[in-house]
Amino acid sequence: MDLQLTNKTAFITGSTSGIGFAIAKALLTEGAVVIINGRSQKNIDSAVKQLQAFVPNGKVSGIAVDFKDPSAMDAVKQKIDQLDILINNVGIYASKSFDKTTTNEWHEMFEVNLMSSVKLSKYFLPKMKANNWGRIIFISSECAQLVPEDLIAYSATKAAIQALSRGLAQTTKGSNVSVNTLAPGSTLTESAQEYIKNQAIIEHRSEEDVADDFFKKVRTSSLLQRFTQPKEIADMAVFLASPLSSATNGAVIKVDGGSIPGIV
Ligand SMILES: NC(=O)c1ccc[n+]([C@@H]2O[C@H](COP(=O)([O-])OP(=O)(O)OC[C@H]3O[C@@H](n4cnc5c(N)ncnc54)[C@H](OP(=O)(O)O)[C@@H]3O)[C@@H](O)[C@H]2O)c1
Repeated sequence: MDLQLTNKTAFITGSTSGIGFAIAKALLTEGAVVIINGRSQKNIDSAVKQLQAFVPNGKVSGIAVDFKDPSAMDAVKQKIDQLDILINNVGIYASKSFDKTTTNEWHEMFEVNLMSSVKLSKYFLPKMKANNWGRIIFISSECAQLVPEDLIAYSATKAAIQALSRGLAQTTKGSNVSVNTLAPGSTLTESAQEYIKNQAIIEHRSEEDVADDFFKKVRTSSLLQRFTQPKEIADMAVFLASPLSSATNGAVIKVDGGSIPGIV
């Protein structure tokens, strides 16, 4: 299937590793011009090198910007003028009880997870509308609906993202711009792999046992009963980013292995 992404320009926040990196790889494979992001030039250089090895003629560059920094947009504006596809992927969390989560952590999570995408959308959405084509994709989480007790602040940022995404979609009426959200489930990124590895050492168990237990004891509602691979999220993101998704706007698409119960 030709996803018609050749030479479309995409910016993916938080994409030197994890889900963002997988989306960058998938978009690059489809011929898009990809701009990745992370906090350090060192990680950007390493990720760009990996992507170039994977797609030798791929057009990929990066912007080192920390979205915890309220002035991050200045650097983005200096480097990117027009954009076809914006993937608001960056997201941080602190797994803590409500009592132990500090006000500062609430502010940081809202700044990185929500306000980065507010500011980026404010800048790029009017340009997409003027161009009468564009895609904005928010990366939410199953947590927006499951709201685990140790992730209340994170879940609140993700619920806010879904409201923002729907609201922005409503402003695109009659145009070829769309705004949608993907809600991934527990995904086996490098940091999740590291966590499993460390737990296995602490608990003197195999990594497979630790991973299995997560679905038997924690994410019991998962129908998939295994971690999602970053590529499985990226495959859905790439379709949504493409012109082929033209009839989907204002949607939240679950890529959660069926963990969110209910019929919508
Ligand atoms: N993994 C999951 O199980 C899961 C499940 C549901 C939803 N999600 C959502 O999916 C998105 C991606 O998650 P992930 O697990 O792939 O994340 P991750 O592995 O923690 O992402 C790491 C990436 O984010 C960048 N990053 C971190 N803080 C940043 C900041 N302040 N400014 C700019 N870049 C920053 C890192 O860059 P450097 O380290 O190079 O600076 C790296 O590229 C997030 O929104 C997350 O909430 C994840």
